[in-house]
Amino acid sequence: MTTAFRPAPGIPAGRFAPLVPPGVYAPQEDTFLLAEALSREQFAAGAEVLDVGTGSGALAIRAARRGARVTAVDIGRRAVLTARLNALCAGQRIAVHRGDLFGPVLGRSFDLVLCNPPYVPTPPPGAAERRVVSAPPEPGAGTAAGAQSGADRDGDPRRGVGPGGTRRGGEWPADRPRGAGRTFEGGTDGRTVLDAICAGAAGVLRPHGALLLVQSGLCGVEDTLHRLALGGLRGTVCDRRRIPFGPVLRARLPWLRARGLLTVRDEDEELVVIRAERI
Ligand SMILES: C[S@@+](CC[C@H](N)C(=O)[O-])C[C@H]1O[C@@H](n2cnc3c(N)ncnc32)[C@H](O)[C@@H]1O
Repeated sequence: MTTAFRPAPGIPAGRFAPLVPPGVYAPQEDTFLLAEALSREQFAAGAEVLDVGTGSGALAIRAARRGARVTAVDIGRRAVLTARLNALCAGQRIAVHRGDLFGPVLGRSFDLVLCNPPYVPTPPPGAAERRVVSAPPEPGAGTAAGAQSGADRDGDPRRGVGPGGTRRGGEWPADRPRGAGRTFEGGTDGRTVLDAICAGAAGVLRPHGALLLVQSGLCGVEDTLHRLALGGLRGTVCDRRRIPFGPVLRARLPWLRARGLLTVRDEDEELVVIRAERI
């Protein structure tokens, strides 16, 4: 395992290539899809943007380059340091906080919230499919590429009720994710962090502010729209893109099929971007 910083793999030419050390999520298809949605957003210079689960800071930097005042949050110490370093290299001023979801920004409100959460359904402890695949990332590996990075053993995602919303009990397997798995493991149905985002987003959005959220079709797009509505946000799907299964999903295919999340005919994964506005 190398600990040297390296440019994120698979970044198409012309895209900002942040440095990504092991254990930090390398920007990939879901990042790019969310970045495209971000590029369509109209906001005034000085608008306040929050990037929850910032990882390398790639999305936060894009927002800052458009003149937004950006705050970023990540639970991983390594991600926080990386995002700060990348912001510095990009010449952008971004406040990067370490903490759980909306916890570090309690009491504040934003015009736009960006989130690419961990959403890969997580098999139970001990299941063969749970093994983290150490293969290098593949083009379009999408949700699975977190597995290519080394372990990031700092910190620990908190369980139970987070400041930004509730976590449903029993969603995480007993050995909830640590290290690189924390960047992509979403709990049994992939919705542990997603649900907390749905529950808490309205609380940090200004009136008419918007949330841009990317997730896999595997973990329930209608469920997300319903939960956002319960939280006071009107959501619609604004982008869809099919990508090949990455190494983690491929390793989990039997388990995903057994759970009814995929059929034998499914040969790829759909990424979905949801835009939800505070009513
Ligand atoms: C899929 S990665 C996305 C990274 C980056 N935003 C991107 O699109 O490339 C998810 C990120 O969320 C962070 N994360 C996971 N659980 C979190 C939590 N409870 N609070 C804050 N960040 C969290 C992970 O550390 C990881 O950096």
